[in-house]
Amino acid sequence: MVRYDPSIYRGAAVHYRYGRPAYSPRLEALFTEELDLDGRGRLLDVGCGPGILTIRLAHLFEEAVGLDPDPEMIAEGRRAAQEQGITNITWVQAQAEDLPGAAPGPYRVVTFGQSFWWTDEVRVAEAVYDMLEPGGALVLIVHTVEGRAVPPSPGPPPIPHAEIKALVQKYLGSTRRAGQGIAPVRTHRFEDALVRTRFGTPRVIFAPGIPDLVRDSESVLSGYFSLSSSAPHLFGDRVEAFANEVRELLKARSPEGLFWDWPGDTEVVLALKRG
Ligand SMILES: C[S@@+](CC[C@H](N)C(=O)[O-])C[C@H]1O[C@@H](n2cnc3c(N)ncnc32)[C@H](O)[C@@H]1O
Repeated sequence: MVRYDPSIYRGAAVHYRYGRPAYSPRLEALFTEELDLDGRGRLLDVGCGPGILTIRLAHLFEEAVGLDPDPEMIAEGRRAAQEQGITNITWVQAQAEDLPGAAPGPYRVVTFGQSFWWTDEVRVAEAVYDMLEPGGALVLIVHTVEGRAVPPSPGPPPIPHAEIKALVQKYLGSTRRAGQGIAPVRTHRFEDALVRTRFGTPRVIFAPGIPDLVRDSESVLSGYFSLSSSAPHLFGDRVEAFANEVRELLKARSPEGLFWDWPGDTEVVLALKRG
């Protein structure tokens, strides 16, 4: 049983779109090819955050629903969709565990971008199974570095993650934090949860990540503030002191203030409902 803590991403939403690297540029093509999309049907994006996948994928469907329990995330998603003139998205503030009631089906595709692990996985996947059209798909998406070939740097130095993490530890302690407690330790893969559901064993596909992503220092800092383990609220009144130490470190490592970010390839776990 997973209990939702509403403070896990407190203060993080405004940093998210600016600070997080994008998924593979091939994601839309992969969806269209693998899921036989033809513009019809509905998408549900669960744990949508500021609508990263919802906004990217909405045009592949008649309608999309972005669902997240964090009101700041939903507000960012709504704002970004408005800015981009996207009008076929409905935003729902709710937890995955509130499905199906919070956003009733049917859906052609249900996505979770870096969010499935926050949920009561088996129970939520079973609820999603009932909400999908026959032949529909549950799709779990994450960045994966481990085991993937690292491309060469386009020039700028890599983000000094080890040194920034050491600063996070200096301020927050060595135990990884999340919300009011410590971050859950994950000991299983998505496949291990899905195999215990009616979906059975999923298929795993990798789409190539962006090899030459260059980001500035403020976006690197925002990336850290967008994480539950270093969200602004955790630093209390020392948040500016932390930000300034990160800025000094980044300036020392790259006087131009530019860094190469290798987020990894985009791992796409596809679980189909039998047609
Ligand atoms: C790392 S963000 C992912 C945002 C976006 N989907 C992406 O691909 O970048 C994780 C999101 O999961 C949401 N979340 C946490 N617990 C949840 C739950 N029980 N049900 C649904 N969403 C949840 C958080 O509020 C947060 O917005």
